[in-house]
Amino acid sequence: MSASHPIVDIHTHMYPPSYIKLLASRTTVPYIYQPTESDNSDTSDPRLIILASDDDPSRPKALRGRPVDGTYSSFDEKRAFMKRHGISCSVISLANPWLDFLDPGSALKTAQEINNDLDSASAENNASPSNEGLKLYAFGCLPLSAPSQDIVSEIRRLKTRKHVKGVIMGTTGLGKGLDDPALDEVYSALASTSTLVFLHPHYGLPDSAFGGPEVVARSGHVLPLALGFPLETTIAVSRMYLAGVFDRHPQLQFLLAHSGGTIPFLAGRIESCVAHEREFIANGGSKQGPQRSIWDVLHTNIYLDAVIYGQPGLKAAIEAAGSVDRVMFGTDHPFFPPLGDEKDSKWLSVESNKGAIDGCLSQEEEAKRKILGGNAMSVLGLDL
Ligand code: URA
Ligand code: ZN
Repeated sequence: MSASHPIVDIHTHMYPPSYIKLLASRTTVPYIYQPTESDNSDTSDPRLIILASDDDPSRPKALRGRPVDGTYSSFDEKRAFMKRHGISCSVISLANPWLDFLDPGSALKTAQEINNDLDSASAENNASPSNEGLKLYAFGCLPLSAPSQDIVSEIRRLKTRKHVKGVIMGTTGLGKGLDDPALDEVYSALASTSTLVFLHPHYGLPDSAFGGPEVVARSGHVLPLALGFPLETTIAVSRMYLAGVFDRHPQLQFLLAHSGGTIPFLAGRIESCVAHEREFIANGGSKQGPQRSIWDVLHTNIYLDAVIYGQPGLKAAIEAAGSVDRVMFGTDHPFFPPLGDEKDSKWLSVESNKGAIDGCLSQEEEAKRKILGGNAMSVLGLDL
């Protein structure tokens, strides 16, 4: 892509140094474990232990989770990755599990610090001629364990930060999921400030859904990440839809990670089950079902990223979103790095997402341009 057709990465994470420090100060999930000599381990890299299934007591701590290196917290590493893959602009978000685990008293202050760090690092980056025109923006994080008025005040404050272009959020909401009526105040604030919500999974499914911890452990992160993450997103958005969140807040704008989990594939089935549900008022029952078609919601309230690594999934995403205008390129950096020594080569995870876009839209230059960056520029109002 040329400078007039920039590639924008809307799904790219960081743990700023203050967050790394926070995780390193903890000993329960989520935490970072720093191996010591007494671990007798081959590696001295700190370990990121953030998923419940990471903290397997039958493994030594020095081998739990994943190694966490500079790619997680260094802006220089982010820029090097961008250059290597021809990415001109990254919209950085705090990685999971965000601030979900903080006590209510510290959540607002921590959110403000992290959001200010991301906003000022982006401002500094964008003003510096030595960065060869690479641009950074951010999705802020919300203090979801704090009282609603604190969450709303942070949503409003973020509108005043020039480089913050939306917020990233997990699926637990205030603790009871995204269909919790107590979230209405937060949804009203998000809708009235036109704040885009980047919805991202973290919790996956319980090990029992896969046959128990022993089965999960046999293939490391494959089941939690390949299936647990997308199904978590699918369930969260389906619950929002069924509870009428998009009926009550028709202006809400959500960007779903990993091309919406399995929503594009299952939307027709969800629509059909709703149309055949006798409990719903529309079908003679007594319960209020969703009042809008799921397709209408997908076409007006939902954007999907293109982080799906294959053509069938990407085709389903474009089809379900209703148009190429609602799908945006992402990488999920720094996750899914090359496993060998080829640190300076292109990442398979990135190339497979780019390859899917090329393959699905081989003759459609304008559509490719939109997914790779044009949509992000217009939806997020990026100045590139
Ligand atoms: N693994 C994670 O924990 N988070 C991501 O975003 C991707 C992979
Ligand atoms: Zn991600």
